[in-house]
Amino acid sequence: MIRMELNLGRFLLALSTWLDWSADGLNAHQRRVACASAAMAAHVGADPAIVERTFAAAVIHDLGAVKNAERLDLQRFDVEHTLPHCLRGAQMVAEASVLSGLGNIVLHHHDKWAGRNPGGVQGTEIPVEARIIHVCDRVAVLSSPDSYILTQRGEIVERVKSLRGKAFDPDMVEAFQDLAAHESFWLDMTMPEWGLEALPDMPGLSVELPAEGIRQLAGVAAYAVDAKSRFTYRHSHGVAGTSRMLGEIMGLAAERCLLLETSGLLHDIGKLTVPDQILEKEGPLTPDEISIIRGHTYYTYWFLVDAGFDVAMAEWAAFHHERLDGRGYPFGVDDSRLDLEHRIIAVADIYTALREDRPYRPGMPWPEIEKVLWSQVKSGAIDGDVVTALLNAKPEADRRWEELTLASAARLVDEGEEQ
Ligand SMILES: [Fe+2]
Ligand SMILES: [Fe+2]
Ligand SMILES: [Fe+2]
Repeated sequence: MIRMELNLGRFLLALSTWLDWSADGLNAHQRRVACASAAMAAHVGADPAIVERTFAAAVIHDLGAVKNAERLDLQRFDVEHTLPHCLRGAQMVAEASVLSGLGNIVLHHHDKWAGRNPGGVQGTEIPVEARIIHVCDRVAVLSSPDSYILTQRGEIVERVKSLRGKAFDPDMVEAFQDLAAHESFWLDMTMPEWGLEALPDMPGLSVELPAEGIRQLAGVAAYAVDAKSRFTYRHSHGVAGTSRMLGEIMGLAAERCLLLETSGLLHDIGKLTVPDQILEKEGPLTPDEISIIRGHTYYTYWFLVDAGFDVAMAEWAAFHHERLDGRGYPFGVDDSRLDLEHRIIAVADIYTALREDRPYRPGMPWPEIEKVLWSQVKSGAIDGDVVTALLNAKPEADRRWEELTLASAARLVDEGEEQ
């Protein structure tokens, strides 16, 4: 029996950690902002639902900044080009109904109190959670990891005060000044895992989600990793849909197929740890670059465990580069540990990757795909029965691929957006 409960707060914290992973120097930026924002929401006497929403939105507020360069740019205090990541972030959270209250907050988290914002709102028209996050986000950007935090606070307080009524809500600046008087506010930001400890257990965040709700959340995470490269914008959803289809064909129960789809959505989440220039590189990778990529499934495993998924689902997701002959990576398990679910995701991953364009080759037609799959079966990597099931379902696989391509068009990140 696979354990199904998932704590929303814990999932969001895990997603936050992985989102902040690969861009140099971000150092748990979103957690730090969440820690300060939740403290500020509580300080202004907001009701618990608002405190929860402020935390939940803050901990993933920059999820729309999918490229490393865009994330680093947001670490400049005076950054101006903020709209694309706000729009995309709102679009991403809209994929999970349990996150529906967060879209408007993510959308407005850079809005200025005095107005002239892209959405045309100002002052109290901006969601209060977004006004809180805006102040805390800029405070986090101003605080440098290079010197002791308590020596920086005077300067940061002055900077924030100078923007009172301009960029920032005067009430929130006042709340910030109150909080800033306590050393613990600053020290919590340097160790946000302590400051945030109690939050995932707040009533609205420890909800027991139905399996479909968990699948939707996994879809948001998949969106974040797939958008890192224009070559993979539908990869995780492709692997997930193919895995589900194969599970159904091969006789797995409906509930298990849904879980398999969820694991498929998360199979490459560990790629959030791989720098964009490696994922996008045209031409052969160096041995060092290959070893960095080979770590991604290790991090996939720990993402799922950290987010609170059952270990079985973590393994389904993380074993997709293992081989039946034991020569895969990163765990080196063999056929004695590779169940039907693992074998399905491994085949679905190779098949989906072959259909997609890569920097060094266009997507392949069926005859070539078949050739590659059978050579992998022969070499002892993947399961021939799963390959047979896939090849018997070519028309259905084609139909799903077209459907996915249409549905994913909006996820294709415009390369011109980030500069
Ligand atoms: Fe932002
Ligand atoms: Fe992978
Ligand atoms: Fe993959």
